Amino acid sequence: MAQPRILILGAPGAGKGTQSAKITEEFGVDHITTGDALRSNKEMDISDMDTEYDTPGEYMDQGELVPDDVVNAIVDEALSQADGFVLDGYPRNIEQAEELEDMTDLDVVLYLEVGEEELVHRLTGRRLDPETGDIYHVEYNPPEDPEVEARLEQRDDDTEETVRERLSVFHENTEPVIEYYDEQGDLERIDGEQAPDAVWDEVKATIEDAA
Ligand code: AP5
Repeated sequence: MAQPRILILGAPGAGKGTQSAKITEEFGVDHITTGDALRSNKEMDISDMDTEYDTPGEYMDQGELVPDDVVNAIVDEALSQADGFVLDGYPRNIEQAEELEDMTDLDVVLYLEVGEEELVHRLTGRRLDPETGDIYHVEYNPPEDPEVEARLEQRDDDTEETVRERLSVFHENTEPVIEYYDEQGDLERIDGEQAPDAVWDEVKATIEDAA
């Protein structure tokens, strides 16, 4: 396999960002993440797209999906510039999965499986370093450096109320996407409840097997 084209699926908090960072480092592929791309464009004016709200941020802060047209354009542009990639946060509904099929082929589809209460615990305890983008957790993975600890921030949508809404959007819209890949026989299930390094061992071996 030249540069692998990897799709990583999982509920909010399943560890997609954590594992994508390791994949990027190990396999030298681009990390294409719709969540980060949209967070950088939270205030973008999308009112001319006939959408319910005027900016992506208004959808995100309520835990709702940003309209497909906005997200499809971001992914299409990013994929056209990448050789190998790990795609994280897309597709989130069947319409996006069908769009993706027209945009590129995939070598591996990973699905990180994690139970609901663990997801809530992970997301409400998540903290981000605004300078490096590194992901931490107050209990599972706190930073060692007190200077880093002092500058950590919580994501606007990691409050318990918004997390519950994001999980309900996942059940309704994104679980059918998982079934879609499963029915095609493409889905590689990974036990995402293990410690991050154990999850990584499985993720790495699965990608290497697909080579
Ligand atoms: P997005 O940014 O994609 O968020 P998400 O899918 O909800 O996923 P997260 O980033 O919250 O979780 P993750 O799986 O990456 O977990 P992480 O590794 O950080 O989307 C945000 C919003 O953008 C959406 O709600 C929507 O509005 C919009 N959007 C995005 N894409 C869209 C699309 N395609 N269409 C429409 N709208 C879209 O880990 C979580 C925590 O757990 C961390 O603290 C970490 O340290 C810890 N952790 C990770 N792994 C482990 C482990 N194995 N054991 C213990 N702790 C762990």
